[in-house]
Amino acid sequence: MPMPCLELANIHTYYGTSHILFDVSLEINEGESVCLLGRNGAGKTTTLKTIMGLAKGKGGAIRFNGASLLGREPYEIAQLGVGFVPDERLIFPDLTVRENLEIAVKKGRGAAAPWTVERVYELFPVIEPLDRRLGGYLSGGEQQMLTIGRTLMGNPSLLLLDEPVEGVAPVVVQELTRQIKNLKGMGLTILFAEQNMHFAADVSDRAYVIEKGRIRFQGSMQELAANEEVKSKYLMI
Ligand SMILES: Nc1ncnc2c1ncn2[C@@H]1O[C@H](COP(=O)(O)OP(=O)(O)OP(=O)(O)O)[C@@H](O)[C@H]1O
Ligand SMILES: [Mg+2]
Repeated sequence: MPMPCLELANIHTYYGTSHILFDVSLEINEGESVCLLGRNGAGKTTTLKTIMGLAKGKGGAIRFNGASLLGREPYEIAQLGVGFVPDERLIFPDLTVRENLEIAVKKGRGAAAPWTVERVYELFPVIEPLDRRLGGYLSGGEQQMLTIGRTLMGNPSLLLLDEPVEGVAPVVVQELTRQIKNLKGMGLTILFAEQNMHFAADVSDRAYVIEKGRIRFQGSMQELAANEEVKSKYLMI
C-alpha cells in the first residue's frame, strides 16, 4: 500500500462569516499527481490555501506525512516540505531571474538532492539565458516557470500548483506539461488546481472535482473522462 502523503478529512473553511469549503476530504499518496478540478469560484484556491495555512480550515484534520497541519502557520507548513505556487505570479520584478531564485533558498531542509539555480535551469532551459534579466521583463510563461522554480528552491516534497497553465500560450502549456511530468518523475508529490481538463488529463493520475465548496467526484482520469454527467454538471467541457 502506498503511504498517504497528504490527507484532508472533513475540512470546513470560512472567510470571515462566509462558509466556503464543506466537509472536504481528499488523500494523495506519495509520488502521485492529483488534480482538483472545478469551475470559477468552486473552491480550488481555497482548498490549496487551507492546506498551506493561508486560509483557516476547521473541523476534521489535515495531515502531511503524519504531521498535523491544522492551526499551523504557513511558514511552518513550508518548513515541513509543502511548496505552494499561487496563481498570481509573485516574482520580484526588480530582481534578476537568478536573484529571484537565490532569495528563495531555504537552508536545512535536508533534501537528498537540494535544488540549486543550476538545477532549476536544467528543468526550465528557457529561463537560463534570462539569468540576468529583471523579473518584470519576462513573459507570462517565463514568469510561471520562475515562480515554480522559486518554490522548488525551498526543496518541497509536496507541490501545490494553482492553475499553472492559466493564461499562457499553447506552446508554453506543452512545455509546462513536460516539466511537471519531469517533477513527478523525480518523486515529487503534486496537487494542482485546474479548470482545463485536457492539461489535467495529461499530467495527473487521479482527479477530484469540486463544486460550491464540496467534493462531487473522485476517481481516475479515465473514470472522469467516461463520466459525462460529472463533466457536464461540474466542469466546462
Ligand atoms: N478572500 C475572500 N473572502 C471572501 N470570499 C472569498 C475570498 N476568496 C474567495 N472567496 C470566495 O470563495 C469561493 C471560492 O473561491 P476560490 O478562489 O477558492 O475558487 P476557485 O475554484 O479557485 O476559482 P477560480 O477558478 O476563479 O480561481 C468563491 O465564491 C469566492 O468568491
Ligand atoms: Mg482559484
